[in-house]
Amino acid sequence: MRLGVLVSGSGTNLQAILDAVATGALDASVAVVISNVSTAAGLTRASNAGVATEVVNHREYASREAFDTRLVERLRHHQVDTVVLAGFMRIVTRVLLEAFPRRVVNIHPALLPSFAGVHAQRQALNYGVRVAGCTVHLVDEGTDTGPILAQAVVPVLDDDDEESLGARILVQEHALLPKVLQWMAEGRVRVEERLGRRPRVFVTG
Ligand code: GAR
Repeated sequence: MRLGVLVSGSGTNLQAILDAVATGALDASVAVVISNVSTAAGLTRASNAGVATEVVNHREYASREAFDTRLVERLRHHQVDTVVLAGFMRIVTRVLLEAFPRRVVNIHPALLPSFAGVHAQRQALNYGVRVAGCTVHLVDEGTDTGPILAQAVVPVLDDDDEESLGARILVQEHALLPKVLQWMAEGRVRVEERLGRRPRVFVTG
């Protein structure tokens, strides 16, 4: 599996992927890391691991589709077969999704379908839920709506703030994302499309 990892920020999930590749826990290679933010720390993490990096600044494109067209071009250049949104804070369009059908994976810091979109941890605290967590899912055209591959749960503690809850969730993210990618590398994920209903995900083996 040749991964293209898209990041916008610190890239700790990218680091978890790079570490899993290095230890052999994830049977894949990271072909390229692309960021829409030239200063993203994730780019440094990639360089440190000897992985190619690229910056594609969304502000230089007239539309989301034009931006995605450039992403697809760069991902194809690096012969990527699976795209990982690892803290990539842009909404992707069908241009990317049709180029990599059912091969675009996202990690979200909430138990979807609750608390989609930005500031998921803040949304969870504001709502007052007693458990929170993270979701790894295939991306579709909605925002954080695609078929769920796996979730992990953490407690919400009485004295939590956004930062403490976010840190607890992040620990789970770093374990879950490489694990799910390994399932995909092993060909264990099957998505059953169902007319008029949500697709159903099976993880075999
Ligand atoms: C992670 O918590 C990830 O789940 C979240 O951004 C953070 C990125 O951290 N993603 C989203 O909120 C996407 N809607 P990282 O850059 O250290 O991996």
